[in-house]
Amino acid sequence: MLDYPEKSPIFYRDMTRGYPIMDRGEGVYIFDEQGNRYLDAAGGIAVVNIGHGVGEIAEAAAKQAKRLAFAYSGTGTSRPQMDLAKKLAARAPKGMGEVKVFFCCGGSEATETALKLARQYYLAKGQGGKYKFVSRWQGYHGNTIGALSITGRTQWREPFLPLLLGFPHICAPICYRCPLGKTYPECGVQCAWELERVLDVEGAEAVAGFMAEPIIGTSATAVAPPPEYYSIIRSICDEHDILMVSDEVITGLGRTGKNFGIDHWDVAPDIITTGKALSGGYAPLAAVIVSEKVWRTFWDKSEVFYHGHTYVGHTLSCAIGDAVQGYIQKHNLIQRSAEMGELLLKKLQGLLDLPYVGEVRGKGMLLGVELVKDKETKEPFPRETGFADRIAHRAMELGVIVIPGVQGTAPGLAGDHLQISPPFIFDEEDGALLTEVLRRAILEIGEDLTG
Ligand SMILES: Cc1ncc(COP(=O)(O)O)c(C=O)c1O
Repeated sequence: MLDYPEKSPIFYRDMTRGYPIMDRGEGVYIFDEQGNRYLDAAGGIAVVNIGHGVGEIAEAAAKQAKRLAFAYSGTGTSRPQMDLAKKLAARAPKGMGEVKVFFCCGGSEATETALKLARQYYLAKGQGGKYKFVSRWQGYHGNTIGALSITGRTQWREPFLPLLLGFPHICAPICYRCPLGKTYPECGVQCAWELERVLDVEGAEAVAGFMAEPIIGTSATAVAPPPEYYSIIRSICDEHDILMVSDEVITGLGRTGKNFGIDHWDVAPDIITTGKALSGGYAPLAAVIVSEKVWRTFWDKSEVFYHGHTYVGHTLSCAIGDAVQGYIQKHNLIQRSAEMGELLLKKLQGLLDLPYVGEVRGKGMLLGVELVKDKETKEPFPRETGFADRIAHRAMELGVIVIPGVQGTAPGLAGDHLQISPPFIFDEEDGALLTEVLRRAILEIGEDLTG
């Protein structure tokens, strides 16, 4: 049975379809009310890391809920918040110095927090002219107005353009379809130097920060830039005194097989935002990790951060996050994400023999399958065919959940991909089922469109 928008009191995002009623989860599986079982190869949306239905987390949640569910952050702090901050601080890149953590409820809130933090940092330094943010096309940083302003997903921005802040975007480092028409390494990683060009135009004295996902999450899943990219970005940020913000809402806390996605480049940002994997889906929770350079400036100037929400540092959510991070540590799941991710990547690369698979990429448990109509020319199917959507729908009928890419990297925003971001506990058997179902779904839909 499905719940249909026209009959339901719920304001569903998509009014054109029915929604299966999800009922329970167990490990890598999620079940609907009919008892249909789905392999959750999307991890919800890169959220579920330790798996569904872990008893230890439920017990920790119940214990904390009975003791104290909520203490207002303006009134006091709580042990769960302090414990979780300590765990996050231990994972932060060493180059950030002694970090401090600000907890909020979701990734978009974390982005807003980072924007305001950067702005206030420069105010505290007496550089009130710095307020702009540079980000990248194809970047996704959330859906609230500030976050959407720096998001580079055209389709989602367009209806709200009159409300958005007019901040500049640079092209994303997508080597498969280079937006600058270049080829690595002859390109000299020009896509990174684009930041300098924008600073010249906008005036570095007006720019507070540069924000990017170290590995692209949802808009071009698992696209990672060349090895030199982030050290170039870091050097430009340093030279022009702008803050480097790494949006690790998807890539943070083990999703890519390391603590943070930026660790693959061995670069330390000034601010990290993270979410999803922090609580593994057991509670809404996100965080902003602030480098020593930034928070010390606040303290030296006796600054109050003029920002906050009711649920900042939510006691129960932090206790759940602390239990999830403890579970990850205890079961060595970040290493597992790295190792299983490598095996899964190899398995999925087996799909490259299909005529409709142009690229299979990724690190750890963040993997992407780029879909094409023609492998030689990389021409995608026309947008209106909804190739990725149809594949994801068919895969779900066959018992596997993957996320269809909603906006492509080809001209005219065409191009399809599939996001694969399973729980870190995925095993080889799960990988085999996923690959088999994807092979069948891609072939069936591809042949239907070309046939
Ligand atoms: C990289 C990135 N940043 C920010 C967000 C926004 O997070 P939320 O949906 O929790 O507001 C997302 C969500 O997918 C994301 O992938």
